[in-house]
Amino acid sequence: MAAALVLGLGAAWAVYWNDRVSPEILAARSAGQALAQNGREGLPACISCHGAHGEGNPAAGFPRLAGLHPAYLARQLADYAREVPLTGAHFDQIARDYSKTPRIDLPYSILTPGIRQHAVMSPIARTLKPDEIEALAQYYASLSFVAQPVAADPETLERGEDLVLRGKPEYGVPGCFACHGQNGVGVGAMFPPLAGQPAAYIVEQLNHWQSGARDNDENGLMRAVAEWMTEGDKQAVAAYLANLSYRIEAGEAIRQAAPQ
Ligand code: HEC
Ligand code: HEC
Repeated sequence: MAAALVLGLGAAWAVYWNDRVSPEILAARSAGQALAQNGREGLPACISCHGAHGEGNPAAGFPRLAGLHPAYLARQLADYAREVPLTGAHFDQIARDYSKTPRIDLPYSILTPGIRQHAVMSPIARTLKPDEIEALAQYYASLSFVAQPVAADPETLERGEDLVLRGKPEYGVPGCFACHGQNGVGVGAMFPPLAGQPAAYIVEQLNHWQSGARDNDENGLMRAVAEWMTEGDKQAVAAYLANLSYRIEAGEAIRQAAPQ
């Protein structure tokens, strides 16, 4: 009886929250849906790569967008759109074992607005107007998502788990969940979820931080982590994260983003 009451109250609370979404947000959400599904002149439909419901494409390594915090998603699009600032300095990518020889240079993201160069996403982001970005952010944040955990061999999972939970204390690197939240579910607009993202996508982002192609993390936090990771570390961490169960209910990201 008490349990039923609690369940009932929970459901009523969810309805209440959904009802609290303003007409502006509802309008933005449906504009975002139309854009994501159909694109427009000069803009391909997002669903062609990110899936019909923003679930991503694990085989191709395209990230899921469903349930991402709206402010995180909007900021990524702005970062993709930004041109590389002319700083007068240029760092060539040097193939290295990052576990032994950390790069010594300026963490540029402290000094400049972040950049996230990508051959596919940067041109797309540059065609988006601010109201379109807001619409897409609201639409994707409103979607639900259930991860399909990917199996991996126990040794890889064990190594991945150690890095994810403990980090590399010998180099002062914290575990991933210290920032990305318990089980990698993400924390607010700053720390995106890792659970439910394709393994290939996770590895690719770590590569981008090592090469400097992605340089949009607050205070160089993420780069300081990526710098210490070997090829094997990256594979093990990605396999462990892709193996996690994860679900986010429709609108949960928006409720998290709403002022309390
Ligand atoms: C041709 C395929 C393609 C299309 C079309 C496409 N994307 Fe992407 N998107 C990608 C790829 C590949 C990445 C990963 C890029 C990287 O490594 O940074 C990505 C990454 C992203 C990210 C970063 C996600 C994260 O977790 O940081 C966002 C946000 C995004 N896309 C939004 C969109 C939106 C919105 C549209 C439609 C207007 C769109 N994309 C259309 C391929 C595509
Ligand atoms: C000190 C805090 C911190 C730690 C520890 C940390 N991260 Fe991050 N990570 C960040 C921040 C901040 C971002 C968001 C960057 C941005 O704003 O674009 C991020 C973003 C990411 C992304 C991009 C997600 C996306 O959707 O594009 C990946 C992948 C990632 N981190 C992987 C890891 C892994 C793997 C570990 C553990 C080995 C880890 N992170 C540990 C702070 C951290």
